Amino acid sequence: MIILGIESSCDETGVAVYCADRGLVAHELHSQVDLHAVYGGVVPEIASRDHLRRLLPLVRRVLADAGAERPDVIAYTAGPGLVGALMVGGGVANGLGPAWDCPVVPVHHMEGHLLAPMLEDVPPEFPFLALLVSGGHTMLIEVSGLGDYELLGTTLDDAVGEAFDKTAKLLGLGYPGGPALAKLALDGDESAFALPRPMVNRPGFDFSFSGLKTAVMLEVRKAEAAGELDARRADIAASFQRAAVDTLVTRSLQAARNQNLARIVVAGGVGANRLLRSEMARCFEGDVHYPRMEFCTDNGAMIAIAGALRAQQASPADEILAQARWPLESLAPPGAPNTA
Ligand code: KG4
Ligand code: ZN
Repeated sequence: MIILGIESSCDETGVAVYCADRGLVAHELHSQVDLHAVYGGVVPEIASRDHLRRLLPLVRRVLADAGAERPDVIAYTAGPGLVGALMVGGGVANGLGPAWDCPVVPVHHMEGHLLAPMLEDVPPEFPFLALLVSGGHTMLIEVSGLGDYELLGTTLDDAVGEAFDKTAKLLGLGYPGGPALAKLALDGDESAFALPRPMVNRPGFDFSFSGLKTAVMLEVRKAEAAGELDARRADIAASFQRAAVDTLVTRSLQAARNQNLARIVVAGGVGANRLLRSEMARCFEGDVHYPRMEFCTDNGAMIAIAGALRAQQASPADEILAQARWPLESLAPPGAPNTA
């Protein structure tokens, strides 16, 4: 069985082909980062138009790379994300489905992130704790099986990726800020500024990053007033990154211990952060799984594998699903109805 995966929820156009017997056989990604960088963030209208321009050529290319004329199933990201951008991927999937006489399966973007480590040589076994960290989400989930998700904790305000991006902006770094901030932090002293590790001493497993962001803003203003911002930028970046990573790791370990889980999966764009990857592996006594770097941020391969695992739910194209909001916990195992 050949599954074509299409991702278009934000500013990356990702397309991939996953084969039930051969694994991932082709994948392509077109990043729109340059288009949005001048605006300092993603412009939804520009994102939709660029997905329109890029999708079909990418589909043709991955199928050619895979040596396939057409897939058996098409999986597309149906949410959460920018509705206009989602509708482009959903429209292409639901147009090609009838044309090729193959069924389609709508995929939850965060389930795609969660299942991305399944593409690696040593995939995680169920059950595991998932730390999902992206530009829009910071979640701890107990994953007992495919579609069996219990939300243990989430952010009460900003997502951690958003905190990276906003801090980067304060420091005058370009968009997207996460990778740029991590790079600048390499030259800084992570103990230069005493920044808070929000919520880590509270019961439960929720997060909050707005206090950390405000603390950084105050340090930036102080350094600016003293005419020292340029000299302190790397130290601020390193101190922020350390505080954010410490918070994520501490909370994950608390949740894993409490739920008696021996495996942690870290996924989503912030999962590409090298300090987070190394600290989680160093501090957790169990196994830690990640997707390879390129599959941490948005991509088509994670949608293709999620589609492969949910292929039994594929049905003839009918309604194009595009949902800006879609709680991950509402998903059910294949074969059972979703709860929302
Ligand atoms: O999963 P993703 O590609 O898109 C969403 O679904 O949101 O995540 C993007 C987020 C952005 O906030 C970006 O700054 C952050 O992931 N990010 C990083 C790194 N690479 C990407 N944050 C910290 N360190 C990185 N190396
Ligand atoms: Zn994402």
